[in-house]
Amino acid sequence: MAICANLSHTLTSKFKKANLYYVAATVVLCCTFYVIGLWPQGGDVTTIQLSSTAILPTLPCNPSIKTPNPTPSSSISIDFTAHHTADSLTALSPSARVNHFPSCNPEFSEYTPCEDSKRSLKFDRNMLIYRERHCPEKNELLKCRIPAPFGYKPPFRWPESRASVWYANVPHKHLTIEKAGQNWVRFKGDRFVFPGGGTMFPRGADAYIDDIGKLIKLKDGSIRTAIDTGCGVASWGAYLLSRDILPISFAPKDTHEAQVQFALERGVPALIGILATNRLPYPARAFDMAHCSRCLIPWGKYDGLYLIEVDRILRPGGYWILSGPPINWEDHWRGWNRTADDLKAEQDQIESVARSLCWKKVIQRGDLAIWQKPTNHMHCKINRKVFRKPPFCQEQDPDKAWYTKIDACLSPLPEVSNVRDVAGGPLVNWPERLTAVPPRIASASIEGVTAEGFSKDTELWKKRVTHYKALDGQLAERGRYRNILDMNAWLGGFAAALVDDPVWVMNVVPAEAEVNTLGVIYERGLIGTYQSWCKAMSTYPRTYDFIHADSVFTLYQDRCEIEDILLEMDRVLRPQGSVIFRDDVDVLVNVKSIVDGLQWDSRMVDHEGGPHVREKLLIATKQYWTVPAPDQDKQ
Ligand SMILES: C[S@@+](CC[C@H](N)C(=O)[O-])C[C@H]1O[C@@H](n2cnc3c(N)ncnc32)[C@H](O)[C@@H]1O
Repeated sequence: MAICANLSHTLTSKFKKANLYYVAATVVLCCTFYVIGLWPQGGDVTTIQLSSTAILPTLPCNPSIKTPNPTPSSSISIDFTAHHTADSLTALSPSARVNHFPSCNPEFSEYTPCEDSKRSLKFDRNMLIYRERHCPEKNELLKCRIPAPFGYKPPFRWPESRASVWYANVPHKHLTIEKAGQNWVRFKGDRFVFPGGGTMFPRGADAYIDDIGKLIKLKDGSIRTAIDTGCGVASWGAYLLSRDILPISFAPKDTHEAQVQFALERGVPALIGILATNRLPYPARAFDMAHCSRCLIPWGKYDGLYLIEVDRILRPGGYWILSGPPINWEDHWRGWNRTADDLKAEQDQIESVARSLCWKKVIQRGDLAIWQKPTNHMHCKINRKVFRKPPFCQEQDPDKAWYTKIDACLSPLPEVSNVRDVAGGPLVNWPERLTAVPPRIASASIEGVTAEGFSKDTELWKKRVTHYKALDGQLAERGRYRNILDMNAWLGGFAAALVDDPVWVMNVVPAEAEVNTLGVIYERGLIGTYQSWCKAMSTYPRTYDFIHADSVFTLYQDRCEIEDILLEMDRVLRPQGSVIFRDDVDVLVNVKSIVDGLQWDSRMVDHEGGPHVREKLLIATKQYWTVPAPDQDKQ
């Protein structure tokens, strides 16, 4: 503006007699063009200087690109090119790079750090505490890459994978013998074949689900999310998927050798987990249906503690389905090697706990019994005078479920004003549920997220996923990927954008996230879990085909080592699987240097908004490699 003032003064003295209007018009035009000249660089001189100096000094620059002079000068030549395009970014200098991580010993090829049997034996056997998560201390963390077994092949594609798994990928035959009569799994040449049987459904899960469908509505979209407790090889979940019902199956690492590993190889959503002393890692009011077929969980014991936990995670009006002992003991007690009295007492106990939770027994027919959670707690609050146990929980966040002990108290549902109301707000049926405003957002219980913000987020992720597919041909190829992990899922927008693809997404809401959004994800009809990325995930090596890591490394920057998170990602990623990282450019430069050490192929690309955005994408693919052939090993 000083230049404009000087110019104005000179002009007035030189052309004293000139028409004042003419002079004024010239001054105005001069100033206008000066300002327009600045505009393409951001419209504000201060902004240009700040953004340039904030980014460039921290990055190794390509010498062919000129560094702008940060001091304003009249001789400055305005340069409109972007100075931090992804192409110009290189990883840290070779000396700053992490050395290549070596391969771990072949015996670690199925290593699950938090469910390691050697470590677990040091813990209490009471209530199966020893089978819960017990993760290595920092000084015990492996600094090597978990190898795939020799002969590992990319898993069969869905839906073939539901019935076939390569033997080389999960070389464990134990269940083919132990569960032969129940049709869980058979061994055939180079592969396992899964006929769909289970302990309570030797005729196959499909026929069993048909039986359930005769008792409650499975087809109208009111039941979308489900949980299978004690899942075996997850055939129940596998056959629900073809009915547009999205299950999470879990079971511990116990004598049912590699059961969850089989489930994952089959392309069925599953986690290693157990109902013991900690809450299951899901928010309250998450599932439309919970299921146990002879899952060996002592439902009536410990004052109904485990049914209290099922109650917490069931949505209002959700169903609990039980088959196996003690249901239909009258027909089965001899085969179950238990006395009729014992089984009857167990059933009485379960019925009594269910009543104390205000559940309604919907039906018991044949081998199936079904209960329903109330849609609100109006009556339940009144009848606490009759049922003193369990009391309602006081001042406890029902959504908190990461290393949270199960308390023997009933998680209160949100208040309602009418006995017919659904606590927390009703859910619409699937598939509309995916894009309808989730009740938690409509009721403003998610800090900083409005209904409008939610819809915009859905649209944003549609665009981003289209961009991702242009960058990663494997993601775009229908059927190439099946098991997908979103490490920081926010509202589940990434998963929602993939809904028409034959994939499932495990949406993780980090335990450290400022806002807990996992409840919203479930209200959309998607599934997920809590997880702290400072620790290992409860899953097997080579679980996921694709990982999305949005702002993960910014979130964990001062919390734990980037290197440890990346080694964990390497563990759970399948050979030839890929990862898209989305993060601040400086963070990604560091990530890239470690990813190089993992021997992944990677490249940095610009944000879909263009090169001027600090946020960038890093696309990486894990190479295919396995342990050497056994005879090669000896050489
Ligand atoms: C007999 S198998 C039944 C498997 C499957 N539900 C079926 O019908 O084929 C028992 C299952 O319960 C699991 N299980 C045992 N105790 C458990 C617990 N406390 N929490 C979760 N799962 C458990 C076992 O690991 C196994 O998967």
